Amino acid sequence: MKVVSIVGARPQLVKLGAVAQAFAGTDHEHVVVHTGQHYDPELSDVFFAEFGIPAPDYHLGIGSGGHGAQTGAMLAAIDPVLDGERPDWVLVYGDTNSTIAGALSAVKQHLPVAHLEAGLRSFNRRMPEEHNRVLTDHCADLLLAPTEEAVRHLAAEGLAARAVNVGDVMVDVCHRTRDAVLAAGLRPELGVDPDEPFLVATLHRAENTDDPELLAALLESMANLPVPVALLAHPRLRAKADQFGLKLAQGSLAAAKPLPYRELVAAVLASAGVLTDSGGLQKEAYLLGRPCTTLRTETEWVETLEDGWNVLAPRPDRLPVAEWHALAVRAAPSERRGEPYGNGHAGAAVVAALEAHLR
Ligand code: UD1
Repeated sequence: MKVVSIVGARPQLVKLGAVAQAFAGTDHEHVVVHTGQHYDPELSDVFFAEFGIPAPDYHLGIGSGGHGAQTGAMLAAIDPVLDGERPDWVLVYGDTNSTIAGALSAVKQHLPVAHLEAGLRSFNRRMPEEHNRVLTDHCADLLLAPTEEAVRHLAAEGLAARAVNVGDVMVDVCHRTRDAVLAAGLRPELGVDPDEPFLVATLHRAENTDDPELLAALLESMANLPVPVALLAHPRLRAKADQFGLKLAQGSLAAAKPLPYRELVAAVLASAGVLTDSGGLQKEAYLLGRPCTTLRTETEWVETLEDGWNVLAPRPDRLPVAEWHALAVRAAPSERRGEPYGNGHAGAAVVAALEAHLR
């Protein structure tokens, strides 16, 4: 079986880490295409090195652009690659512009497409990720869902026959990395004292970064917290803060670069909690047992909301200050977490599902 994985943005490289490892133990041919959507080394190269993923077989070098220009350039560049490779499966990941471009190119060439992390929904049609997920699910042949909730969403859209719950590949990577970090006693490099209580924060979604008034309010809310906050600043956040004349380092906020995965896991383990609008980080906080406050109106990962492990706070500036502080620095719930995201063997389940549904 020949499988072409199409990736481009940071969260896809984490997922590819699990899938590439699962393929490494088989006779299957696994070809990796990197669209170039993320090109800064700390959003891309470090993950290949970290997860031991061989260099991409194709690097398309597309880079930044508006949604149409970026997605269109990817589509034009992916077409000849898939035409030359003619794989048994094209595997696309998550919800970025690289996902929809890969899926569309494959469908138009009558190549079977599998969508990893299928069935996630925010039900917020203002998010580019929501368009990408819904459209990709509806054109894919095999829907590799991470949870039962995701399978239910697919069923509600008439896609149950194509859906399989394989578990979440991010659990494979997160658990493996947690064990390595704990064994190595790795200490995070953050610009805050890791021996004192602190929070880890990220902010990169267009809904939050691209509105100057909202971005200013979110930064100010983090800056007024009573504990240090290590803000791992995505390039989109830095660019928008510069454009709007906003400071990332203010009050309790210390701005740092995005971290390699191992260091991110070390930082979350060392922290008292997480503030984020990232889907992946909400789940990593849950898996690592740290309370998370999500700076969004909704989450796709609703399982994390159980028992208050994750709480939504779209406008912390509109909460009474004492309430916001109590929320952001709350202790971890005492309730045990379940295993809604599977047991850490999702990579192998993905390979098995692709084998079982081979055309
Ligand atoms: C993308 C995904 C998002 C995912 C996120 C993870 C889409 C629509 N969005 O958002 O779902 O959660 O990746 O990080 O696909 N930039 C750099 N260096 C880079 C990459 C981007 O400076 O390596 C800058 C670009 O100039 C651009 C901005 O960041 O202006 C946004 O990049 P883009 O790829 O459009 O989306 P992300 O915000 O990274």
